[in-house]
Amino acid sequence: MATTPPDVQKRETTPHTDPSLGAETAPNEAPVAPPTVKLDRADPEFLAGAHAVYSGLRAQGPVVHVSFGTNFAERARAAASPERQAQGGSGNDWLFVTRYDEAVEALLDERIASDFRTGMTPEQRERAAAAMPEEFRPIIYSLIMLDPPDHTRLRKLVQPNFTARAMDALKPRIQRLVDELLDKAERAAAERGETAPERRMEFVETFAYPLPVQVISDLLGIPVEDQPQVHAWAERFLQADPQQYMSNQEARAGMMAFTRYLEGLFERKRREPTEDMISQMVHAQEDGDRLDPQELLSMVFILFLAGHITTVNLLGNGVVALLRHPEQHARFLADPAGMAKGMVEETLRYWGPVDFLGSPRTVKEDVELGCVHVPKGSKLTVGLASANRDPRRFENPEAYDITRPDAHRHIAFGKGIHVCIGAPLARLEAQIAFETLFRRFPKLRLAVSADSLRLGVGAAMRGFKNIPVLF
Ligand code: HEM
Repeated sequence: MATTPPDVQKRETTPHTDPSLGAETAPNEAPVAPPTVKLDRADPEFLAGAHAVYSGLRAQGPVVHVSFGTNFAERARAAASPERQAQGGSGNDWLFVTRYDEAVEALLDERIASDFRTGMTPEQRERAAAAMPEEFRPIIYSLIMLDPPDHTRLRKLVQPNFTARAMDALKPRIQRLVDELLDKAERAAAERGETAPERRMEFVETFAYPLPVQVISDLLGIPVEDQPQVHAWAERFLQADPQQYMSNQEARAGMMAFTRYLEGLFERKRREPTEDMISQMVHAQEDGDRLDPQELLSMVFILFLAGHITTVNLLGNGVVALLRHPEQHARFLADPAGMAKGMVEETLRYWGPVDFLGSPRTVKEDVELGCVHVPKGSKLTVGLASANRDPRRFENPEAYDITRPDAHRHIAFGKGIHVCIGAPLARLEAQIAFETLFRRFPKLRLAVSADSLRLGVGAAMRGFKNIPVLF
């Protein structure tokens, strides 16, 4: 295990001699082509074997060509440039950054834009906007898809809600929710006549899902009585196949209903503000700038959706990873409070909920990533999961080790100006959840074989659909 992590921003200067690391790229090489690998997160088979694919791609070079399934931004981009489509240009052929140093470099490079409209003429922008159904606009124009100065202005408005002090204030509430959910699981098992340690629980449905959803709903100020309906709308969207959104009338109707509901809620909070983020945003005034109605809607959407399924998957991935590694499991049980932080960071590194950025970035000027020349206009994504298993950065990266001293240097939350704003919240929830779960139920184990667990695909995230456990 490396004990002195290199500075993440420092470039390596000497080529590695370890043959397992693959050939180093010669200066100013073009990205490796052609696209032979399709990174299809809608395919559970792909996700299950993805780490082996990433390892092969890292060996090919720090930046390689791959092909993807389509998503919103890609559809809008295609609508903006019908001429490119007519010429047979593939909208789904992107560059993929495979290695850790280059991934960090790309995420910090301000010449690489997040706004999918970068480089479009005003006419193309109009065409792209017109092609985007109203119900998807809040997502496509959200914080995650914006560049400075709009990104800076909007991020500043919500950042104070995620400071260390804000997290300290949330701790008792999260602990109470965790305890309530586990009490409920115990009661349900007792009603079925089950006794410890043979009680059954579907971990995702009973615990991993409701915890982050309730936390983010409370934080935003979605009234408790409305939460089941809001969750149902969001679920329809999150469970839909990303390649079929346009024809999925149920998902689209759900998004529309969610939008109308939020507009009504904003009106209520405007009249009667409460102590929550929506009230705060409705009344926000930052450097004389109010959020316009579209920005407000986008912000609530992105906070709700991004704060939701990612954390659900972190909780599920952590439990499965721990239970699959008996030695690590024993270490954790010996000191849940002391090990919780390490377990969370190592889970994020080993099985982070986001394999790679789902929307490509646009290269605004020619850049060099490592030794690779990336031309202006390229579409590029960053392999977060691939970088987190880069043997140039993490010793023995395929091992799950909750005592790994540099696990926290993972980039599961991204890096740079778009680094996950909810990271402190996700970390806090997961630490409290794992510590409490294994302290209260030290006999907790999988009720089925680990190999039979299936990854979910709908939201294009890495996470298990169902995790039946005994406790
Ligand atoms: C384990 C849980 C989570 C993971 C793995 C995760 C991952 C990420 C990643 C990789 C990004 C960067 C995307 C990019 O660079 O394009 C991001 C951004 C973001 N995340 Fe998270 N996230 C998690 C939890 C949360 C939570 C709990 C919230 C809200 C409460 C949240 C809200 C956001 C927002 C608003 C952004 C956009 C930030 C910006 O563009 O400035 N995330 N997240």
